[in-house]
Amino acid sequence: MASGPKLSDAAFRSAAERALVGEHQTIAKLRALVERVAATDATVLITGESGSGKEVIARAIHTLSARANRSFVPVNCAAIPQDLLESEMFGHERGAFTGAAGSRHGLFSAADGGTIFLDEIGEMPLKLQAKLLRVLEDGVVRPVGSDRATRVDARIIAASNADLMTAVRKGGFREDLFYRLQVVPIHIPPLRERRSDIPLLVEYFLDRMRQRLPGRDWTVSREAMVHLWSYDWPGNVRELENMVERLVIMCEDSVIDTPLLPSNLVTAGRIADTRIAPALGEKGINLAAMVRELEGRMINEALKQSGGNKQAAARLLGLKRTTFSAKLRRCGVIAPGSADERDDA
Ligand SMILES: Nc1ncnc2c1ncn2[C@@H]1O[C@H](COP(=O)(O)OP(=O)(O)OP(=O)(O)O)[C@@H](O)[C@H]1O
Ligand SMILES: [Mg+2]
Repeated sequence: MASGPKLSDAAFRSAAERALVGEHQTIAKLRALVERVAATDATVLITGESGSGKEVIARAIHTLSARANRSFVPVNCAAIPQDLLESEMFGHERGAFTGAAGSRHGLFSAADGGTIFLDEIGEMPLKLQAKLLRVLEDGVVRPVGSDRATRVDARIIAASNADLMTAVRKGGFREDLFYRLQVVPIHIPPLRERRSDIPLLVEYFLDRMRQRLPGRDWTVSREAMVHLWSYDWPGNVRELENMVERLVIMCEDSVIDTPLLPSNLVTAGRIADTRIAPALGEKGINLAAMVRELEGRMINEALKQSGGNKQAAARLLGLKRTTFSAKLRRCGVIAPGSADERDDA
């Protein structure tokens, strides 16, 4: 394995950790987990919705590992045509297929000593999955059209935004590979389950815009922030990042206020949108999760209507202020110890 920065190198560590913004307890736990797995060569499977930060986590693991000064090679298994993926990953011999004029090293070789990041692994064809399993088991790759196997030392981090277990059940993903990949499973919760980090992320992205556009500065009005807070962000952190950039561009002075927000963001997540009673269906439902979801939505709605005033929001929901605050903490709207929580005291 390559020699890299020592894990005790605090400056290095903080740089990698800063790329993973968030103080919600799930992110704090993730950060600790990232640090622990970075000290090993274990195969990691990262799951999470689109835009939730899977690549951020993969890069942090690499950067904190002893492999940091070797390559981090991202491979998007969904973006490379399936019939090219094998030779892209493993390389090929001259004449291995029509058009293969010379021999070529694959991405696994490029990641030798470093880390290969297999993104959207669920899109990998079954035949290739078998080949990947052999790499994981024997540590060797065999270029297309070659009978020689070469040893590679690449740490494998895989990611998927689809539920791989479902793919396993449907026969689209090998079960043995699934278990072999998720030696350490890392799940990133969607942004709507860690809303208390939204203001922090907004500030982080604004700060990046300040660096890009020196001399300019922006603040987000409290009401606009409540809207950003209560929106569900189906595209997660990426969607928020793009939104901040868009708002900065649209903003004529220095205050980002509600009229600047797209109307779907302001009206989405309103009570009228909540389908309270979906069909039970054969597989049943997760009632506890549904109740939590509804509670979160109602709390957001109340905060929105009250312009962020918690006393008024509690009244709208017929709750005592203290009960309301406890619920806010539980659904991640307020991080323990945050200024908002101290407001409550
Ligand atoms: N916790 C975070 N702190 C700061 N930036 C973040 C965080 N999470 C995600 N981002 C940013 O959001 C964007 C999307 O993150 P990333 O590419 O890691 O998501 P992903 O889960 O790989 O998405 P996809 O499923 O679409 O590939 C990136 O620009 C990334 O820098
Ligand atoms: Mg990604």
